[in-house]
Amino acid sequence: LASYAASSQYAKVSPEVRTIEIPSAIWWDEGGLRLIDQTRLPDTLQVLTPRRVEDVAEAIRSLRVRGAPAIGIAAAFGLVLALDPEPPTLERAWAAVEEAARTLGKTRPTAVNLFWALNRVVEAAKRAHPSSPAALAGAVRAEAEAIWREDRELCDRIGQYGKPLLAGVRAVLTHCNAGALGTGGVGTATAPLYAWLADGVPIPVYADETRPLLQGARLTAWELSRAGIPVTVVPDGAAASVMARGLVDAVLVGADRIALNGDVANKIGTYGVALAAHAHGIPLYVAAPFSSFDLTIAQGADIPLEQRAPDEVTTIRGVRVAPEGVAALNWAFDVTPARYVTAIITDRGVIRPPLHENIPAMMGRAR
Ligand code: MRU
Repeated sequence: LASYAASSQYAKVSPEVRTIEIPSAIWWDEGGLRLIDQTRLPDTLQVLTPRRVEDVAEAIRSLRVRGAPAIGIAAAFGLVLALDPEPPTLERAWAAVEEAARTLGKTRPTAVNLFWALNRVVEAAKRAHPSSPAALAGAVRAEAEAIWREDRELCDRIGQYGKPLLAGVRAVLTHCNAGALGTGGVGTATAPLYAWLADGVPIPVYADETRPLLQGARLTAWELSRAGIPVTVVPDGAAASVMARGLVDAVLVGADRIALNGDVANKIGTYGVALAAHAHGIPLYVAAPFSSFDLTIAQGADIPLEQRAPDEVTTIRGVRVAPEGVAALNWAFDVTPARYVTAIITDRGVIRPPLHENIPAMMGRAR
């Protein structure tokens, strides 16, 4: 398990907080692609080494790797695996990349980072005008590594921009896992929390358990407690009561896709949390890198929302909790209308309302 010390921009590490243990969900080393199997956390920490495109596709579909930025990174490296072993001709190499992009693009529909990453790698490879399969493989790998490397930087910048918003807050509530486990770096919603922690200020977190797959109870609680952030898991149904009792001063969540008008698709239940926060006058901050914005989509209603198998709802970790054969709805994501979003913390700065004006102004320009 890779962990790294507080990164350089968090230079003011207090004497008490020397090293913060933040897990890496995904990385590439001499052995190839590595993923923590997040379906097995928190009981078992197993690192997978997918060798084939189909292994990566399966890992994304089954949420072994999950969280919008991490899905994008995994897919980008999936294209690298499509060229191992190297096809004999350039034509066959291109066909392998295109076939892999199709396969990976069908795994999960909501996180736009998946399509953004696939497209970015393919376009960069085209621009390189490779003259051999080896040259194509080199171009694909260079771009996948750039996406991974950049994602670490994006998370750090989200941390810097988000940090002042949490000045003085006593505790925050979060939903799902928008942490390091969902990215190539220190997470999105967690990044400002880690930035405070690096200054010796652990801001307590209430983590919604996040049914059906319990990313909050299993993953956020694991990640934050290892890092030294006090975390309290609450049933999803308790989020409004946590607010009503005055236990949290802010809500911090991630995003899978943000429309041009500021509507935010995120893990199912985020919408309810946003309504409750609005009712209690508690700010709701969405933290996301530029790769989670989809400026081709005007509004949240146009975002494709994944529906998953009903048995994820009728069972909990393989144990049936509903009568055999009963119907269940399993929308993996919901849309929080822009009017409930206090601000979006991005790697380029904090976007405040009116989001439909300020998103294109900040995200529409070239980097
Ligand atoms: O189904 P998941 O676990 O992939 O859903 C993840 C989320 O909803 C996260 O909040 C989002 O992808 C941001 S991860 C930094």
